[in-house]
Amino acid sequence: MELVTLRDLLPRAKKERYAVGAFNFNGYEDAAGILAGAEEARSPVIMMASQGACQYIGVYEAAGLVQGMAKRAKVPVCLHLDHATDYDLIKEAVKAGFSSVMVDASAKPYEDNIRESAAIVRFARDYNCSVEAELGKVGGKEEHIVVEDRSATFTDPAEVPRYVEETGIDALAIAFGSVHGFYKSEPKLDFERLAAILKLTDCPLVLHGGTGIPIADIQRCITMGLAKVNVGTELKAAFANTIRKMCAEVSPDEFDPRKFLKPVKAVCAAIVKEKLTAFGSAGKA
Ligand code: 13P
Repeated sequence: MELVTLRDLLPRAKKERYAVGAFNFNGYEDAAGILAGAEEARSPVIMMASQGACQYIGVYEAAGLVQGMAKRAKVPVCLHLDHATDYDLIKEAVKAGFSSVMVDASAKPYEDNIRESAAIVRFARDYNCSVEAELGKVGGKEEHIVVEDRSATFTDPAEVPRYVEETGIDALAIAFGSVHGFYKSEPKLDFERLAAILKLTDCPLVLHGGTGIPIADIQRCITMGLAKVNVGTELKAAFANTIRKMCAEVSPDEFDPRKFLKPVKAVCAAIVKEKLTAFGSAGKA
């Protein structure tokens, strides 16, 4: 199967009140685990490479890896560049065959955010690539983007309609209480803000910082109309913990890297299957 875009996945998800899970990968093993989990759940899936992951793997290499996996996949796969602030890298990813990108100009003033995100949308259109952008600032640490708690600003609903209209984006990341990374205290989502934004736009909305939010809170957002949920840190931690465990278990004489790495796929697959089931997208492929 060819890669699909957010336009292929999110409007239907919003209408039928489920969310498509979007999962960060950093190499072959977690990427393969994400796809295996989605296939087990018979769910569409969004595989995300962050800017840092693209610099680590290579943009063309990441695109080639996931395009290859999607060819024989039993479920629709979207390859999405997550949280990109480097516009040259975004253009390279679009040309390399990513089917979706996120331009993150959320640290910029409103007018600049609109102008720069709209320019990326115009560029991506020619390649049939969808675009997500962010309004408001999600707190926490997402690789190279660090937003201190005091700088995190919730999305202002009044700014949303013009932003969506003038940028022409396919999905909008909003800040309403989630943070990237592990939570220092119990997360408190602002459901009223989400409801207000949902009333003002048809654009599918995205929850960032899915790790550590109680599943019932995420499900409440999805029932209200949220269409995409991002999960990164939980998979990263599972990957690292599995390697640590295998290093302790595998014989010191062993030198086949696959003996250490193989279990990562199953561990990631189990997490992804569980999330997709909780997000209501199991069986929707
Ligand atoms: P977490 O790492 O907190 O799950 O957030 C992931 C994310 O939002 C990626 O954009």
